[in-house]
Amino acid sequence: MKYLITGGAGFIGSTLANHLITSGNQVVIVDNLSMGKVTNLNNNNNLKFVEGSVSNRKLMESIIKNEKFDYIFHLAAIASVADSVERPVETHIVNFDSTLLLLELIKMYQKNLKKFVFSSSAAVYGDGKNDAIKEDDVINPMTPYAIDKFASERYALSYFNLYDVPTAAVRFFNVYGPMQNPNSPYSGVLSILLEKYSYLSNGRPESFTLFGDGTQTRDFVYIEDVISALLCVAESDYSLGKVYNVGTGKTSSLNEIISIINGYLNVEIPVNYEPIRSGDIQHSLADISLIKNIGFSPKYDVHKGLKKYLDFLNNKHLISGN
Ligand code: UD1
Repeated sequence: MKYLITGGAGFIGSTLANHLITSGNQVVIVDNLSMGKVTNLNNNNNLKFVEGSVSNRKLMESIIKNEKFDYIFHLAAIASVADSVERPVETHIVNFDSTLLLLELIKMYQKNLKKFVFSSSAAVYGDGKNDAIKEDDVINPMTPYAIDKFASERYALSYFNLYDVPTAAVRFFNVYGPMQNPNSPYSGVLSILLEKYSYLSNGRPESFTLFGDGTQTRDFVYIEDVISALLCVAESDYSLGKVYNVGTGKTSSLNEIISIINGYLNVEIPVNYEPIRSGDIQHSLADISLIKNIGFSPKYDVHKGLKKYLDFLNNKHLISGN
């Protein structure tokens, strides 16, 4: 099979690409390396890497016109809620315009595509009030990021209903695991947090800045489960024109996460408390019954996922616990 992965050098994209290549598929990646790294990708003859922006019409048209894909995963995005609050215009171009452009190009040139999978976000629900959220629950996108994700997702699904373009979408909850880039103030919280423990080799962890009091909760989903979910949605016949939550169905507060990691590494990380970030939500938890119906079953709770993530960092000598 032949796959196009936008954002394929990033955290989720590169893990997906490496998985697909290992299973003998061909993969084309478009990534502007804003957060992704070529070194995330395994060297392989079946992998073609194109450096460039997914919003570049000329570039995307030449790829989509000239290659025949079985599946397209649109994972390129500026993935930060906080960044979108700072830069709504710039993030809109990447998070919304690129999706509409891709859909149009697919409609024109990819007549044999099996599925276009759009990566949307749990951010579209707004604040979840601690209840598990279903796909058809009330939507309340509170930030430019969430608005763009919701609009893109609707466009993707409408292209199936209006033009028969085979589409589906996933709403990621909080994805974590190896390869997540911690080097931006807007990076995913667990990548930033675990980076602070890498200073352990100097005796103790560096202090972690916590926005809020740590009681905010998220449905943290381990990267390997996310890859299984993406493949389920891509390969299922039932997913056409539908959107699926991708989470674990379990919730953890940041305070709980910190205490699990402290326990594994037998240290106490210093925490520096700052006010809540604007646009931040307090609770987010997925109801995953819909995606379970098409064969998804998460294998990692936070205990197992964090342990695997820490073992990975340990093997790379990026962390060392007691
Ligand atoms: C995350 C994803 C977003 C995804 C959404 C789905 C990232 C960067 N964002 O948004 O792409 O669509 O989940 O639910 O992966 N925090 C700290 N200290 C830090 C960083 C963050 O306390 O150094 C706090 C934040 O204020 C927030 C929580 O941790 O309360 C989670 O933040 P973050 O990892 O940025 O994720 P979301 O905003 O939930």
